[in-house]
This record gives sequence, structure tokens and C-alpha cells, in this order.
Amino acid sequence: MPLSKRSTLTQFLIEERRRFPSASGDFNALILDVALACKAIARAVAFGELGGMLGNHDAEAGGASVNVQGETQKKLDVISNDMFISANNWGGHLAGMGSEEMDEPYQIPGQYPRGKYLLVFDPLDGSSNIDVNVSVGSIFSILRAPQAVIDSGRDITAEDFFQPGAQQLAAGYALYGPTTMLVLTVGDGVNGFTLDPNLGEFKLTHHNIQIPHDTQEFAINASNSRFWEAPVKRYVDECLAGKTGPRGKDFNMRWIASMVAEAHRILMRGGVFMYPRDTKDPSKPGRLRLLYEANPIGMIMEQAGGRASTGREPMLGVRPTALHQRIGLVFGSKNEVERIERYHREPVAYKDDANPLFAERSLFRD
Ligand code: AHG
Ligand code: MN
Ligand code: MN
Repeated sequence: MPLSKRSTLTQFLIEERRRFPSASGDFNALILDVALACKAIARAVAFGELGGMLGNHDAEAGGASVNVQGETQKKLDVISNDMFISANNWGGHLAGMGSEEMDEPYQIPGQYPRGKYLLVFDPLDGSSNIDVNVSVGSIFSILRAPQAVIDSGRDITAEDFFQPGAQQLAAGYALYGPTTMLVLTVGDGVNGFTLDPNLGEFKLTHHNIQIPHDTQEFAINASNSRFWEAPVKRYVDECLAGKTGPRGKDFNMRWIASMVAEAHRILMRGGVFMYPRDTKDPSKPGRLRLLYEANPIGMIMEQAGGRASTGREPMLGVRPTALHQRIGLVFGSKNEVERIERYHREPVAYKDDANPLFAERSLFRD
């Protein structure tokens, strides 16, 4: 097969850098290291059962291991986390890392130089889908380390990550689906790269991705509907009412249970995703995590002309208070996200019994 004329991720990053002569080469090198980790994870995921990669990770003491979130770790969660670390701990670009799978911030080992960036990641998103061969992915965010950390070279703390998403320098995800893709923003639009399996290189295939402002597709885990707050119930109810309801059009619904795959679908053809704050567990204000799920996906959405929100305020304005903080997340087509935000602002008394989810003829009743 002849070499295609498409630019590789490396070429793309070098050309971007030429447009910003003040940018350092460190940053590009860091993104290439992240991309290498994603390629390694893509291979591990692709071998599945053949690689002995499926199932739960066994802690040394026996039994399945549990992460700081209280979630059972899959073998591939742990392997993917190790791959992120080994691809990124030696290069001298990072002051430290944070991960869904590590309770505490990761310190760069003493034998390596420390740099000026922080990398925070969800090594494998949607990992509950691993055993059933459904698309999963990795999500990452790059922040600048606080100046005091850069100047002193001291160990990092969780507080060093407590920067609003608007301060992210770059964000992206890799999707391990029928093709492996890397979707990246460095704050200048969103570009998608497809892994060429012959060359092992990411090639630019989706230039300057834009999300349609309107949509007729929504994604939410409806099994939580009894815990939803009124504005969310109202929004979903109106979608379900379709042509005959206030929206005057029919909606389609999708739920993959891999947020990264939902984000990619929405990036490609529009849609709205909701994992809102609900009343299921008062100790958890939302299911997804701010620093390595909501913020990087939020930056990508906004850079592609979409919107990301808590429902009440723009996601990228939220100042984090914990490394593993959970938050309600709504993202996707701009006009739908704005509508959901409007419903949160409107103090309309919304009666559950008016909701077709629970009414006489209901989705969830015989
Ligand atoms: P992770 O696998 O990193 O823990 O994240 C899983 C998340 C997200 O990908 C998905 O949208 C959501 O959990 C699925 O939630 P439900 O189990 O409620 O469907
Ligand atoms: Mn996740
Ligand atoms: Mn994960």
C-alpha cells in the first residue's frame, strides 16, 4: 500500500508548533508520549481473551482489587494505567501525574528530570464493557504545573491539579473501537487521527471537527430516572414525547456506557450526553469525575463548537476541590445543552406524574 499523503500526528504537531514559534518542543514530545501509551493500550485491548487481558484484576492478597472510587478494577484498568506511567514518567516533561486508578498523585521517580506539565488521565474509560467487546477508550488532560512546583521541583500534591478546566493546555481521548482514533485539542480546534495499523502511526483523518448545534439524539442512563432532578426529568420527558410534545420532533436515544464512545459519536454527528447530578447517593454529586473525564471531554466539546456544563454552570469554570471529585455532566450540541441549563434555571414546578416515564402508559410500566 503506498504511503498516504495524510499527515501523521508528529507532522501535525510540528506544523502547529511552527505557527506558534514560542511554543516549546516539550509539549509536543509529551503528546507523542501519551499517543504511544494509547497505541500500547490499543494493542492490549485488541488481544482481549487471547492476551489473558479480560476479567478483574486480582489484588496480591487475593480477591478483586478496588480503586479509590470503590470500583472493582479490571486487569486492563491496571495495565492501561501502567502503560500511561511508563510512557510518560521518564521524558522530563512532567511534574507529576494523576489517574483514576491511583489514589494519590504520582511522583516522577528520582532518576528522571521533572518538567512543567501535569498529566491527569482515565486510563480506560468504559472498562465495564471490556469483557463484552464494546468500545472503550483513554481520556487525558494536560495542565501547567503551578510555578512554585516548576521552580522548586518539589513533589506534587493533589491541590496542584485544582485548576479550572479552562486552564487545560490540551485534552484528548483515544477510542479503541473498530478503528483506534486519537482525538486531540491543543486549544485551537479539534482534530481526529486514525491509527494506521500498518505503520503504527496516527494519521490526520478528521480535520477541525465541528459539532452540529442542534440534535435529535440524547444519551442518558434511564435506569436512574427515579433519582433525577426535575429539570432533567422535564428535558428527557419532552424528548420522549417526540412530535406530539412541546419539542415537536422525535428523538432517538443511545447508551453505550462508555462515555468516551458517546463523546465520539456526539462529536461526529451531534447529540447530547447527560450523567447529571442525582439523588441516588448523596455522597456522590454525579457519577463521572471532573479532572479526568468531565474537563477533558468538556474542552474538546467546546473547542468543537459544542458545550459542556454541570447543568448549572459551564464545566470549564468549576474549580476542583478533590483529585477524584465527581460532578454532574451534560455535554454535546450547543442548543440542547443550553436548553438543559435553562431548565435548571427555571423554577418550574415539574410533577413526576406528568412524566411519561412514570405515567399510566409508561416506558417502565406494563
Ligand atoms: P470508568 O470505566 O472509567 O469507571 O467510567 C465508566 C463511566 C462512563 O464511561 C460511563 O458513561 C458510565 O460510567 C457508565 O455508567 P452506568 O454504569 O451508569 O451505565
Ligand atoms: Mn471513566
Ligand atoms: Mn476508567
